[in-house]
Amino acid sequence: MQEIRVEARAKINLYLKVTGKRPDGYHDLITVMQSISLSDTLCVRRVCEQVVSVDAGGLLPDDESNLVTRAARAYFKASGAPFGVRVTLEKRIPMAAGLGGGSADAAAMLKALNRLDGDRFDEDRLVEIAATVGADVPFCLVGGTRLCRGIGERMERVENNLNGTLVVAIGEEGVSTPRAFAALDERCGDFSGVDPAAPQALLDAMQSGELSVALPQFYNMFEEVIEPIRPGVSECKSVLLSCGAAKAMMSGSGPSVWGIFEKEADAERAVESLIAVGKRAYLCHMTK
Ligand code: C5P
Repeated sequence: MQEIRVEARAKINLYLKVTGKRPDGYHDLITVMQSISLSDTLCVRRVCEQVVSVDAGGLLPDDESNLVTRAARAYFKASGAPFGVRVTLEKRIPMAAGLGGGSADAAAMLKALNRLDGDRFDEDRLVEIAATVGADVPFCLVGGTRLCRGIGERMERVENNLNGTLVVAIGEEGVSTPRAFAALDERCGDFSGVDPAAPQALLDAMQSGELSVALPQFYNMFEEVIEPIRPGVSECKSVLLSCGAAKAMMSGSGPSVWGIFEKEADAERAVESLIAVGKRAYLCHMTK
């Protein structure tokens, strides 16, 4: 096999709580991550020259700052048998939005390289390699619905039988991830007042597929510190709710917001309404 196309799915957080600060400066989380149908496409071609080049149509620099390139470095470090690849990346996932786009691309790159390499590694080993690339990359590699702890690398499968159409909306530029964590540090101190228990009521409602029971359990701790400084978040939430969303919540450290709708027609109307007021909006669904 010389060329392979892989879909890189975005994620949203259905639950996100920061539970502590680690000595290395990172934060421990407890989060329910969900893959969604909004995706990028990677086309990875094996070439004779010893290069790793990434063409994202000018949207990303073709250097080590790019998570796709970093994924390739990590893969070849683990395999000890590098080969050349040229990657074309069709970006559709909004960048720096809390949707895990860069992590999804990195995970897709690991999968593509492994297939081009004759399935050298099993999934568990690929997850270990993914964890060296970035906190959300292990989840993006396995996808579906997972309860994640640590910085996201400790994952448990979650059964999700909730139905509904999603709208993902973005109203403005976000704040950087480190700044968002710093804002939480300021508010929560050492996080000793935060209950680190799993969100059992949410997990049960997801398993039984009862959206009305799940609704009050969806939670994102970053909203408290980001909404006051990014009015576009509240604006998107208001439009989503006024169009019939059963719930609207920020994803990750923002600024993206997801809304869940029981009626697809309402979701379509929400996309139109958001675009009419200058926001970006995408119709999508949760994926297994
Ligand atoms: O994983 P990512 O590169 O997106 O993280 C960017 C920054 O966000 C980290 O350098 C760290 O400051 C902060 N971060 C954190 N705890 C996490 C994830 C990210 O403090 N679990």
